[in-house]
Amino acid sequence: MTQLKPILMHLDSIPSTPGKFKPDKSSPYNLYRLRFHPTLFPRFTLWSFFFIFFIVLLIFFSSPSNPTAGNSRRSLKNSLSPSPALGPNWERRVRASARPRSKTGFTVLVTGAAGFVGTHVSLGLKRRGDGVLGLDNFNQYYDVGLKKARQSLLERSGIMVVKGDINDAVLLRKLFDAVAFTHVMHMAAQAGVRYAMQNPGSYVHSNIAGFVSLLEACKMANPQPSIVWASSSSVYGLNSKVPFSEKDRTDQPASLYAATKKAGEEIAHTYNHIYGLSITGLRFFTVYGPWGRPDMAYFFFTKDILRGKEIKIFETSDQGSVARDFTYVDDVVKGCLGALDTAKKSTGSGGKKKGAAQLRIFNLGNTKPVPVGRLVSILEKLLKVKAKKKVIQMPRNGDVPFTHANITLAHTELGYKPTTDLEMGLKKFVKWYVSYYGSKKKSSW
Ligand SMILES: *[C@@H]1O[C@H](CO)[C@@H](O)[C@H](O)[C@H]1NC(C)=O
Repeated sequence: MTQLKPILMHLDSIPSTPGKFKPDKSSPYNLYRLRFHPTLFPRFTLWSFFFIFFIVLLIFFSSPSNPTAGNSRRSLKNSLSPSPALGPNWERRVRASARPRSKTGFTVLVTGAAGFVGTHVSLGLKRRGDGVLGLDNFNQYYDVGLKKARQSLLERSGIMVVKGDINDAVLLRKLFDAVAFTHVMHMAAQAGVRYAMQNPGSYVHSNIAGFVSLLEACKMANPQPSIVWASSSSVYGLNSKVPFSEKDRTDQPASLYAATKKAGEEIAHTYNHIYGLSITGLRFFTVYGPWGRPDMAYFFFTKDILRGKEIKIFETSDQGSVARDFTYVDDVVKGCLGALDTAKKSTGSGGKKKGAAQLRIFNLGNTKPVPVGRLVSILEKLLKVKAKKKVIQMPRNGDVPFTHANITLAHTELGYKPTTDLEMGLKKFVKWYVSYYGSKKKSSW
């Protein structure tokens, strides 16, 4: 019945009793009459045309291949009568996944749970006894097969990953209604610096609109959860003062990605200020490791070196080397858990602030920048293959020449202390890479 409404609205614009319709001179129908009626088309044929036209419209708007119509229909369905996927059985699974092992354990919603860091954080939380519910939209920015494989890994540990978008307010409400989350670990984002030139809208959709949608759900929740989320070292942009400290300026981003992460930090300030949400932002520095992202240099260098394909190594405009503060994923996970453990409770409830709440920002880096050339020579040694290298000047499309974290603050406040150097970390990555791609012969990515 509800699905008929839009069609009835279309029908409203034509008379319900065609036979009695007397077109006046200004009516647009008049034109049709003049053109068709007198000679070839009897009056009823004209109205059959209208009828067929609206039938075609009806089919068009109810077709699932039409994305807008599909979306509005889905959200309508969610709010009115849940589909089987959101029914009582689904809710039971959601609750079971989010249930901590002990009374003192956290109940955490992890967004972007099928992503690289999201997967590792989820596993880390589950391992120590917290309850974890994952959420991920499984978008096609990179190989969905890899995301699905991470999901299987999570499921084997008893973690359910709901397929859905953080922009879906109805779904978020359903999740918050089903579970009283104590914490939200927000890792969902559109990642990648260069891709922003191809698809800028995706960054706005995930990193800005999606973040706001999530904060809206958190603010309305009762009790409000504490939020820890992934910002980025890219907010330091074109800064030349090293190491990067949290108090340094972050107003000269070099990419749209960086700009949307910086926007996220400002949005976090607003939601903390107005609604009393406890929010901690973590500025990640080039996180790498097993189950990593195929769009990152260490990952596709490995792939290309093994295939004998030439790799491009960037240098700065003055022939300097490009360097990154590579941070091993297990170290980052420890930082994330430290942030959760030290997060104070949000002070508001049901959309009302009751007092000042915690707002923090931390660098999570390794404090040891490594030139990209060194990264390549470590990979050559581990893979036992000589790379075909081509040194080119770094294009000015979003990358910054170097990153270097000051992690003093994270160390004092979170007990953060990275222990894995690049050689050790890459060894673990390569071991995973060979076992994952070597045995499965994946070609789709
Ligand atoms: C690192 O950050 C701390 C504050 O967290 C600051 O006191 C210190 O001066 C910074 N160190 C450097 C070398 O910039």
